[in-house]
Amino acid sequence: MCGIFGYTGVPTDAASMVFAGLKKLEYRGYDSWGIAVGSEGAVHTARDVGKLSAPPMGLPESGMALGHTRWATTGAVTEGNAHPHGDCSGRLALVHNGIIENYVSLRQGLVARGHTLRSETDSEVAAHLLEEELARMDAEHDVQRPDLPRAHTDGGNGNGAWPYRARLAEALRRVGQQLEGLNALAALDVTSGELAAVKNGSPLIVGIGSGDGNGGTDGAQYLASDMAALLAHTRRLVYVRDGQVVSLRPEGVELFDAETGAPLPLDIEDVQWTPEEAELGAYHHYLEKEIWEQPTLLRRIADEGVDAATELARFLGLQGELHLTGCGTAFHAALTGRYLLALEAGRPSLATYAHEFGPIAASLEPGDAVVAFSQSGETIDVLDAVRAARAHGAALGALVNVPGSTLTREVDLTLMLGAGPERSVLSTKTFTAKLAYLLLAAGALAGEPARHVPTLRAAADDIAALRTDGRLDIVRDVAHHIADREHLFVLGRNVGYPLALEAALKIKEVTYMHAEGFAAGELKHGVIALVEPGTPVFVLTPAGPDEAYMLTTAGEVKARGAYVVGIGPHHHAVYDAHIPVHAEGLAYLLAALPPLQLLAYELALLRGTDPDRPRNLAKSVTVR
Ligand code: F6R
Repeated sequence: MCGIFGYTGVPTDAASMVFAGLKKLEYRGYDSWGIAVGSEGAVHTARDVGKLSAPPMGLPESGMALGHTRWATTGAVTEGNAHPHGDCSGRLALVHNGIIENYVSLRQGLVARGHTLRSETDSEVAAHLLEEELARMDAEHDVQRPDLPRAHTDGGNGNGAWPYRARLAEALRRVGQQLEGLNALAALDVTSGELAAVKNGSPLIVGIGSGDGNGGTDGAQYLASDMAALLAHTRRLVYVRDGQVVSLRPEGVELFDAETGAPLPLDIEDVQWTPEEAELGAYHHYLEKEIWEQPTLLRRIADEGVDAATELARFLGLQGELHLTGCGTAFHAALTGRYLLALEAGRPSLATYAHEFGPIAASLEPGDAVVAFSQSGETIDVLDAVRAARAHGAALGALVNVPGSTLTREVDLTLMLGAGPERSVLSTKTFTAKLAYLLLAAGALAGEPARHVPTLRAAADDIAALRTDGRLDIVRDVAHHIADREHLFVLGRNVGYPLALEAALKIKEVTYMHAEGFAAGELKHGVIALVEPGTPVFVLTPAGPDEAYMLTTAGEVKARGAYVVGIGPHHHAVYDAHIPVHAEGLAYLLAALPPLQLLAYELALLRGTDPDRPRNLAKSVTVR
């Protein structure tokens, strides 16, 4: 939540560059945004509420800049509460991602010491603490830190008396120690041109723009919350870890331990994601683009994914209890996994929301295994769950999409989904990738690693055909028919049940309609009371053993006047509308969701909501 983008390098139109970076991070929060650049010893700031519309006019060219998109936590959505925040000296700019839990007492202390705070935010507190720490460091004339690189005699550490390089990073480190909660802070100091950041709980990635990150004079370095914003500049990245502080200057990047201040080696990784993958291309929205990427993704997993899935299967087959966890869409994938592993390989498991995992973790023992599902690898509830499981000796696995993310570093086995950047706030292709790997792993666990390769291919063909075989028109007709309804339901059975939950989540997230997914069997235990004449009810009806059950269910809601939409291979008289899904067997599981993802997209267009930036949501939920 919240997006950070920073630049230090040769003077340029840094404001426009940061704006472009923030656009790529906007899915992390779009309540307000702001950019600060440094020029001639002063900070120049532009801030606004709402989505990023046009690059700010009137900011000077600069070799240092810092920007932020906000998902509001403390303080209303106003321009005054937009980041970056300044200190009293006017030489610092600071942005923040997280929640400073002790900000009230810190604020009182600052006010008592004569600081003027201009916003209601917890974040501004950190800017003034930074000002104090810099002054305090400059007064430490006798400081002896032979382990730290000394500042150049040309005043490379700014005009303070602190004799070592990375002065701002050291001050930020000291600020970080005063804060309670999970926070990432980034700041720039116009006096020295240094950009610095400290991380504890929210993602931060450094982009090495040129040279090896430790030399050269014409360098440019970047800082962002997500690699998608860096790919236009560099694919050489340093993933800042919790408990680390980083200092960026045009001539190099330095990393330090946030507790001791000791220098740390830089671990530069080359990422495979291309800038094009993160671009919209010919599509109107990322949601649309990412839905249509699913056939290619499935084919790639069918071609290349068997080894990784077999490794996952070995992990899933460990003795002891098996628990699957995640949040939101990722939880729906975990729940699907529970059905698939039981169905295909007779392996029992339990699926639990990550934010409800605490009591489960407390019951784990060495030999038990936990597999976490997460697109971002940064969801705090998921990290909490795996950390709790680790404390009780469980083995940890994860299915993750974002390379280098925190989750990948905390588990014993990571399966990378390889779905490329997912920029729409709504998860689509990464859900499908998780299901595809679960299918392959379930086959491998049953002793047939290639069992579901044809399943993935069949699903890919069916989804790809949606574009041209007339089904898109049916989806649009259904969308027109129900666009003004406020309530709708999606029913599924067995492995179709998590699918129903996921379809309903997609629709509610992006249309703000009240869409609920239910297990078809629950209908008569209460849900049917919600059905009125005209209520849209989608019934996930694959061919096979569940078909008759689902048709009975469809008949029961139809008898109460529901508008029944069947999703499956066969047309039945009980349907008011039928969206055909031709893929059979477990391929249905992969092929049935995309038409409903498209329905969510079409409904968003009809209802005038923003498909990529639904209200109140942010991708990557890094606060509790
Ligand atoms: C729904 C959605 C969310 C995420 C959830 C977990 O479209 O995107 O429900 O699935 O916040 O996020 P990750 O997968 O990053 O852990």
